[in-house]
Amino acid sequence: MDRAEARKTIEQLREALLQHDYLYYVLAQPEITDTDYDKKLRELENIEKQFPDLIVPDSPTQRVGGMLVGAFPSVPHRSPMLSLTNAYNENEVLEWDDRLRKALGITEFNYVTEPKIDGVSLSLIYENGVLVRGVTRGDGDTGEDITLTVRTIRSIPLRLRPPFPTFFDVRGEVYMDRKDFARMNTQLEKQGEESFANPRNAAAGSLRQKDPAVAASRPLRFLVHSFGVAEGLNWANHYDFLKACTVMGLPVPPYNQRCDTVMECMRHCRFLERERDSLAYDIDGAVLKVNDFRLRERTGSTHKSPRWAIAYKFAAQQGLTQILDIKASVGRTGTITPVAKLKPVSVGGVTISSATLHNFDEIKRLGVKIGDPVIVQRAGDVIPKVLKVVEEQRTGKEKVFQVPEECPVCDSPIAKEKEIEVAYRCTNPGCPAQLMRGLLHYASREAMDIDGMGEALVNQLVERKMIRDIADIYSLTKKDISRLELYADKRTDNLLKALQRSKTRALSRLLFGLGIRHVGEKAAYVLAQQYRTMPALMEATEPQLRAIHEVGPVMAKSLVSYFGFPTTRTVLNKLRRAGLTMEEKVAEVKGPQLLAGKTVVFTGELESMSRSEAEAKVRQLGGNPTGSVSAKTDLVVTGNAPGSKFTKARKLGVKVLTEKEFLAKYDGQQN
Ligand code: IVH
Repeated sequence: MDRAEARKTIEQLREALLQHDYLYYVLAQPEITDTDYDKKLRELENIEKQFPDLIVPDSPTQRVGGMLVGAFPSVPHRSPMLSLTNAYNENEVLEWDDRLRKALGITEFNYVTEPKIDGVSLSLIYENGVLVRGVTRGDGDTGEDITLTVRTIRSIPLRLRPPFPTFFDVRGEVYMDRKDFARMNTQLEKQGEESFANPRNAAAGSLRQKDPAVAASRPLRFLVHSFGVAEGLNWANHYDFLKACTVMGLPVPPYNQRCDTVMECMRHCRFLERERDSLAYDIDGAVLKVNDFRLRERTGSTHKSPRWAIAYKFAAQQGLTQILDIKASVGRTGTITPVAKLKPVSVGGVTISSATLHNFDEIKRLGVKIGDPVIVQRAGDVIPKVLKVVEEQRTGKEKVFQVPEECPVCDSPIAKEKEIEVAYRCTNPGCPAQLMRGLLHYASREAMDIDGMGEALVNQLVERKMIRDIADIYSLTKKDISRLELYADKRTDNLLKALQRSKTRALSRLLFGLGIRHVGEKAAYVLAQQYRTMPALMEATEPQLRAIHEVGPVMAKSLVSYFGFPTTRTVLNKLRRAGLTMEEKVAEVKGPQLLAGKTVVFTGELESMSRSEAEAKVRQLGGNPTGSVSAKTDLVVTGNAPGSKFTKARKLGVKVLTEKEFLAKYDGQQN
């Protein structure tokens, strides 16, 4: 493909992708499947890789373009981000309406009633239609610059469709759909990470992620509700503003209703309250706003909130009950989670008999004792939680809950890991609860896919102490298995065959199956593609791992610490001896092996790829990337500010290419 052709295709793909984002996020009417969307995105990525100078910041591929940032820089808001006055009943809403009429000296005006999305406020700055900054609310006057994270949110357009204001500070709420939230929490738990208490916390926590790649993996969404500054374009009222946002490609919540009277507003509030469970996301009330912008100017704002709007808060979905007991449960990676067993209580039509206490710090924070009268809260599909203790109703018979010092399953000591998180874990990698869950995960379809290795079998193997670690499954004999309950001959044979088959599974599946904390399915794939063999990966250092696009500091640390454990080494050695191949075939070797047998060295700072990506490319072409230049080196590739390796290459007469030349010559052949 030549340059002109590339430019044209890039433009077409970008336009198509932006159009599909709009159809999906703004109109909620997607016209292509997610797979087709991803295909187009990958196609664009490939062409941009060949012509890196054609990449622009608002290309759909640039959503995760940033590097890790330290602290978030402070940014002042040009117009303060205020909050809303709350009304807890109809009367308070009517009083607000009376105050407005008196202040304005008129009796009739329009309102807009909207759902109050339970998320996190965000200000987006667009200059000439291009997203330049995303800023948190902060203290209302100054927020934090979280642009890199914000760019990863797919429902936020990187470029607006005209007509748009020349300078636009548009505001809205970042949130998570309840379904996405539940899926993400399950995934986090699977990876041995701390889960979030509710979608709001999850949205807030994800926005604060320092690593944009982690933020990108979180299902964040955005909906517009207001603006701070709009220069060069005026609207007469809020309803027109919302309509204009839709045209610009900004997502606006459904169920915004224009109302002629305050009673009509109340009717819509009650409608939203009835429907709250059927919405995809949590709402905690409705917001009533004066529609006309000129009237808004006349009412003005206090230093905290505008007089022209009020939040009507819904009754929370809470109930009063009693904690009968607190039990600790052990997860796959040993995390111990306290769960409150409750006297069954009906909350919003659903009977609740247990609620999560998240972690032991939460028990301390709440001051919860066994036997305590407590208020529990249910929010949509989320697991109910204990909100607070009703101390006035204590009888004095409540018992303090002792944080267990030993694992409830294997009696091994429990340790609190402060370094990365605040979770308590069972320190015994051979804990039966961990082994059971870990083995089920290892055998699961996405990992080693061992047919027949289900819960009944795994429980028996662990309980009868027939296995002490995952690798032991490969030493099971026909006799061992047929001794188990419900294991007829045929099933035994099938299981042995399935075990045999699993030995040749790709390294990526094994890595995922081992259940290394913070390493999910995708990361396992990326790591395996990069390192190809287990010994190579085991030798990787933290900085090398962090240089990989998908690997953040937490994952890098976790990998190095995992491979540093003597028990890990024992298990991996056992697996190797059992005959596991532990290798990854590199995907899509399309082009010829242009660098077959050649030794390649990179020096200087590469622009379009990380060092490990560049090395992976060399391997893919059959070459051998190494670290130092010698007479045997075939090729040296230079990035910015190349060092002594470059000088040495010159001295030895080794062939030298710039990064661009290298890509043009070798990368282009690949796609
Ligand atoms: S209007 C202050 N509309 O609620 C006027 N806010 O407690 C601008 N919120 O900080 C906000 N849904 O982040 C507005 N439909 C909605 C909203 C909404 C949620 C948030 C917003 C604000 C907070 C106020």
